[in-house]
Amino acid sequence: MGRNPIEPHLFIILGGTGDLTQRKLLPALYRLTAQGILNDRSRILGVARDSNLSDQSFRNWAREALATAGVSGKEMTANWCDQCVYYQPIGVGSEGDYRSLLARVQELERKYNIAGNRAFYLALPPDAFPTTIRGLGQVGLNQSSGWTRLVIEKPFGHDLASAQELNRLVHTDFNESQIYRIDHYLGKETVQNLLVFRFANAIFESLWNRDRVESIEITVAEDLGIEKRAHYYEHAGALRDMVQNHLTQLLTLVAMEVPPSFEADAIRTEKIKVLHTVMPIRPEEVVLGQYTRGKIDGQEVPGYREEPGVAPDSNTETSVAFRVEIDNWRWQGVPFYLRTGKRLPRRLTQIAVTFRSPPICLFQSLDGCQIHPNVLTITLQPDEGFDLFFEVKAPVQPVKIKTQRLHFRYTEAFGPLPEAYETLLLDVLTGDQTLFVHADEVEASWRLFAPLLEQKPQVHEYAAGSWGPPEADQITDREGRRWQTL
Ligand SMILES: NC(=O)c1ccc[n+]([C@@H]2O[C@H](COP(=O)([O-])OP(=O)(O)OC[C@H]3O[C@@H](n4cnc5c(N)ncnc54)[C@H](OP(=O)(O)O)[C@@H]3O)[C@@H](O)[C@H]2O)c1
Repeated sequence: MGRNPIEPHLFIILGGTGDLTQRKLLPALYRLTAQGILNDRSRILGVARDSNLSDQSFRNWAREALATAGVSGKEMTANWCDQCVYYQPIGVGSEGDYRSLLARVQELERKYNIAGNRAFYLALPPDAFPTTIRGLGQVGLNQSSGWTRLVIEKPFGHDLASAQELNRLVHTDFNESQIYRIDHYLGKETVQNLLVFRFANAIFESLWNRDRVESIEITVAEDLGIEKRAHYYEHAGALRDMVQNHLTQLLTLVAMEVPPSFEADAIRTEKIKVLHTVMPIRPEEVVLGQYTRGKIDGQEVPGYREEPGVAPDSNTETSVAFRVEIDNWRWQGVPFYLRTGKRLPRRLTQIAVTFRSPPICLFQSLDGCQIHPNVLTITLQPDEGFDLFFEVKAPVQPVKIKTQRLHFRYTEAFGPLPEAYETLLLDVLTGDQTLFVHADEVEASWRLFAPLLEQKPQVHEYAAGSWGPPEADQITDREGRRWQTL
């Protein structure tokens, strides 16, 4: 993935006064500038409906945002805000408002000699996506003498029909090579390294198939509840919020075939093929859960139905555990167990590959000699790295077998990692779509879960601080296995 140079550009954040801008986008853009990565003629234009804000008051807000996000260097951030940050109100979003936005964009491009390079970032509530995309197209903001790119935050659609409709709408004014659908999990270093790990190490790729792999488990666990997002979460639930996007993305990266090259299109094509070969998910292999009152780290936490803004009889799922199979030559018969949930005991995103045991156990006759299969775990958060578990003889008599691990941690080897948003914004600005989700991918993913969304299985209870409803254990128990992280 050779990088194109970063040309001077205008970075236009629609939803420029929101939480995402404050916590992620502005800090990432500042750090990229401070590292000398962004061209010093590039500028940021925040856009929101608030017509009381001016350039100066927006800069003051941006300064506070950087301080709250823990960005150090008060003077440097203040200078950066004063030099690089601007604000434009979008009012009610009328054609006139978009014409004013166009005029402001052109004025800044002239002032800083920017050759029409524009990144539009939709940091907006999803229901504002369609009108905003239309507004940009209506006044020709999608056409310029340089490049124009459109970044769209999740969620992309609410179901298959709405995702198709949104794709149709976006494609009216932008072509697919201009569209960057964000899944911030893909910006994590370990996710990208998964591809390098698989395809640069023949030792693992030669084991990456049904002959050597017994099962694969993908876990995205959160210890947090829904925070103050009841309004969104009540209509989304874990299937839409986590499974359709993040878990499915991880599944495609683990299971994809070797692409012909390390180019974005080649990689995305292989990911789409995985989605087309996932077998229909059987309702009896899906367990949904909803947390009740419980304890996390010794602290009592409320149940989901007690959270502010949640209906007392809500049936929204806060956890999902399920099993899928991939119907291709490489993975035939290998179960993939996936699960996610809120208010689980700890924050953990991990892929665990369990390899097949030796065909004959030579050590059966030895008292207490139980052999465990080799397991490779790939941890995405909180402590990014890889662990390989293997069996050794303990230096005692009689013979005893113990499990040991080889471990690699990113921070130990390389120091602090960049934030996912820094990686993703840099990719947008260099025109690299590898870590962004293609239209076909997003639709194939919704298609996979459409039957579950249409006819939702029963929702079981689980106590906050547990690993989900006990019923989820039946998915692995049936096959004589256990969830790895229990
Ligand atoms: N926050 C996160 O950590 C996070 C993480 C992942 C994904 N996301 C996604 O990022 C997007 C933004 O989330 P957020 O948490 O930043 O939301 P937010 O705090 O509610 O901010 C929304 C922003 O959009 C503006 N806005 C709202 N309605 C608008 C409209 N109709 N037209 C134009 N501007 C409008 C708001 O300002 P005005 O009301 O003044 O216009 C504000 O600047 C969402 O799609 C969310 O799912 C957020």
